[in-house]
Amino acid sequence: MDLAEARAALHSARRVAVLTGAGVSAESGIPTFRDAQTGHWARFRPEDLASPPAYARDPEMVWEWYAGRYRDVLTAQPNDAHHLLARLEREKGADFFLATQNVDGLHERAGSGQGGGRMVELHGNLLSARDEVTGEVFLLPEPDVLVTPPVSPLGNRMRPNIVWFGEFLPEDALEAAADAFAAAEVALVIGTSGAVYPAAGLAGETLRWGGVVIEINPDDTELSHQMTYCVRDVASRGLAALLE
Ligand code: OAD
Repeated sequence: MDLAEARAALHSARRVAVLTGAGVSAESGIPTFRDAQTGHWARFRPEDLASPPAYARDPEMVWEWYAGRYRDVLTAQPNDAHHLLARLEREKGADFFLATQNVDGLHERAGSGQGGGRMVELHGNLLSARDEVTGEVFLLPEPDVLVTPPVSPLGNRMRPNIVWFGEFLPEDALEAAADAFAAAEVALVIGTSGAVYPAAGLAGETLRWGGVVIEINPDDTELSHQMTYCVRDVASRGLAALLE
């Protein structure tokens, strides 16, 4: 398959599923996970902060890390890749499905999930937190009035609404994503190293049912060998080339 054939397949496909990772937000200035960490957190691995044992050991430090990322994502802006995916959803309508591993809320701010298709956040999001007793999710206050650890309206301490290492993904979101990728004629896998399952297994569902999978990533990934076609470019330019 070449770029023209990949473009034609995406254009003619009715059912399209998309998986995104941190690379889609890189052009919004948000660091990815497996690139070098910058600043104060360089000495930590995300796995040492994003896990139930880390939170049980030191909730204040874990909340300090998440409060910093929360501030960063609110000052970031969706980039062309986010906007092109929201446009693709408006073109495809109800048969468009976006599953993101990102927790930065930029897809939603670009309009994804509001253009007739569906969007799920497989790993949660930074903009909300979960009551540790009831499990209810509440939006966080603005960063400049956020006190950590936050307390829910019910008076209980809240934890970040993020899927941590060793935890299960939201079942309904994952099930819907697996169904959408199995049904997809074309799936796009954009800006993910393919290192974390079950999200990384979604592309295999499309292939198993005879669909086409196209990767957009400047680098080779653990999923590249499965791909029908790879666009070796950043997300915004790769999507623009496919949607021309
Ligand atoms: P990674 O940091 O593992 O991978 C980012 C991918 O984006 C890499 O393959 C880069 O080559 C690629 N990339 C970098 N810049 C890009 C750009 N401008 N355009 C397109 N691609 C670019 O991030 P994820 O694959 O998203 O889990 O990581 C998956 C999960 O691991 C995350 O959701 C997080 C982490 O632990 C949880 O938080 C549960």
